[in-house]
Amino acid sequence: MQPTAIDALLQETRVFPPSDEFVKRANISDPAVYDEAARDFEAFWAKHAEQCLHWFEKWHTVLEWNPPYAKWFIGGKLNACYNCVDRHAQTWRRNKAALIWEGEPGDERVLTYGDLHREVQKFANVLKSLGVQKGDRVCIYMPLIPEAAIAMLACARIGAPHSVVFGGFSADALADRIRDAQAKVLITADGGWRRGAIVPLKRNADDALRQTDSVQTVIVYQRIGGDYTVNMQEGRDHWWHELMQTAPLTCPAEPMDSEDLLYLLYTSGSTGKPKGIMHTTGGYMTGVTLTAKWVFDLKDEDVFWCTADVGWVTGHSYLVYGPLSNGATCVMYEGAPDYPDRDRFWAIVEKYRVTILYTAPTAIRAFMKWGEQYPRKHDLSSLRLLGSVGEPINPEAWMWYHEHIGGGRCPIVDTWWQTETGAIMITPLPSIVATKPGSATKPFPGIFPAILNDKGETVGTNQGGYLVITRPWPSMTRGLWGDPERFVQTYWSKYDGIYFTGDGARQDEDGYFWLLGRVDDVINVSGHRLSTMEVESALVDHHAVAEAAVIGVHHEIKGQGIAAFVIIKEGYTADESLKDALKQHVAQKIGAIARPDQVFFTADLPKTRSGKIMRRLLRDIAEGRALGDTTTLADPSVVQALKEKYEGQEE
Ligand code: PRX
Repeated sequence: MQPTAIDALLQETRVFPPSDEFVKRANISDPAVYDEAARDFEAFWAKHAEQCLHWFEKWHTVLEWNPPYAKWFIGGKLNACYNCVDRHAQTWRRNKAALIWEGEPGDERVLTYGDLHREVQKFANVLKSLGVQKGDRVCIYMPLIPEAAIAMLACARIGAPHSVVFGGFSADALADRIRDAQAKVLITADGGWRRGAIVPLKRNADDALRQTDSVQTVIVYQRIGGDYTVNMQEGRDHWWHELMQTAPLTCPAEPMDSEDLLYLLYTSGSTGKPKGIMHTTGGYMTGVTLTAKWVFDLKDEDVFWCTADVGWVTGHSYLVYGPLSNGATCVMYEGAPDYPDRDRFWAIVEKYRVTILYTAPTAIRAFMKWGEQYPRKHDLSSLRLLGSVGEPINPEAWMWYHEHIGGGRCPIVDTWWQTETGAIMITPLPSIVATKPGSATKPFPGIFPAILNDKGETVGTNQGGYLVITRPWPSMTRGLWGDPERFVQTYWSKYDGIYFTGDGARQDEDGYFWLLGRVDDVINVSGHRLSTMEVESALVDHHAVAEAAVIGVHHEIKGQGIAAFVIIKEGYTADESLKDALKQHVAQKIGAIARPDQVFFTADLPKTRSGKIMRRLLRDIAEGRALGDTTTLADPSVVQALKEKYEGQEE
């Protein structure tokens, strides 16, 4: 994070308490809940696991903690799909909207809990008829359409862990994830819509499947249809609608053990290889159900819109599992916020009378830049609560969101959490905690973060340090798929028995947490996690590149942008067309989110005597700061030359 941004955060003193009106109607408004959870966190989680969820069989032991492995609600039996669908479909909610979907071209669908119940059972039968069994991994590579949620829930119903891969990822990225998970089935679509263009999902899937051999069956949903044709491989590929025509209507939900795997979700770490974060059933469902209920204050009359794609953890926890488990009505929108115009989000809020909106700071900053005339065109008076997630929200963006979207009346919940944490960890409870622009405020009840220095000591008020979590919590990841060593190494080796988040933070005099960004080689581009090494590997994969170093640099809209320092091989010309080719190459290898914003050609990179690239110095150069300590460099003149060259090269 920029020094100027930290200064601004230190100076931020505005406080926004919730209105009496909000407090009066809130799901939880008694601050005693924090003390209750602190006194006995196991009892706290057990009480809510029992109240929030339907269990086929109750657990015998709440927690078994053998760091870094936790087991929660041991012996308990439940089903995530049953909790999200069946138990609502058995009540008056059968005819309540579960999903209100809008496609980018403007098509609309509403699925009630009764509809979901039918579709999910039919699709679960389709999966079974194709030989999918409990424990088999199913990869889902879909646009943001109701069938993505139906596919996830159907997998959960029969106990087949899903691995959703974001539809914006490339064929190579998809292949890596399929291979690592050894997925047996791939569920995809012919294509998806993005800014009026077709995303060729099936074509990417075909490319990916040429590189992998575990997938035996592909199910293709026809999202585009018409003249848009895709290749269907005889014996392997099946149309969703054809399989569904003959699928039986009922399929019982499999009673799953609390600790049975619900899903894998790949995320970037500080090495090039993405890691498969594992989430199990009982603890995860407890975490997402309770946080959705309290943080978003979900009620039956709400219309909840989480703008995330199901390809990310936010989509898993707060577009599918958390809100549906609460029986909420969720809006799902397939496309871009600026298509066909920059008021699309506000048109959707007005049209469906959205009451709770959960989105990312990068989107808010883009809206700010586009101007308030776009939200002003629409009636946003239905909104009563706003949320933010994915990266630190700067106070200016927070204030803009508060005023221009929330009309000054909606509390804002800035929610800090990670793919690994499964559910929201640091957040205001909107009726209890007064908010401060830019702060995620307090830990959720039953969550115990701390800020430590390198020696493991708690830092003082307003001092920066490493954010850690000192006690286990139900929705914590149970590990990395197939890589227990990396799990220990990444999260549990810095401090004994304490979860290391990889984020920096400070706590102010009121105990509020202020997140300061990543402290490792992970970069956060528009709220999406990427590793610098992943981008570097994609660059050196290009025939012209000898070596590359990638860093995250401050970006006005995206939070962080990507700058690449590249050494090219002899015989190639360092020109604009090569820069463009390299950017394109990365986008094609990983996905458009990883496209570098800047590429700089260099003859050398600053390295330590042991050969490690000094990224800190590259960041100083890229962000125009005075160079820090260069004494550990093998050849200090490299960095000086680079700085001079960089300052001369305008991107
Ligand atoms: O750096 C933190 C940032 O996003 C990282 C987690 O990324 P991911 O696993 O992709 O999950 C994103 C959605 C939960 C964190 O390590 N982050 C997430 N939310 C916030 C945040 N940083 C500051 N404030 C937040 N509210």
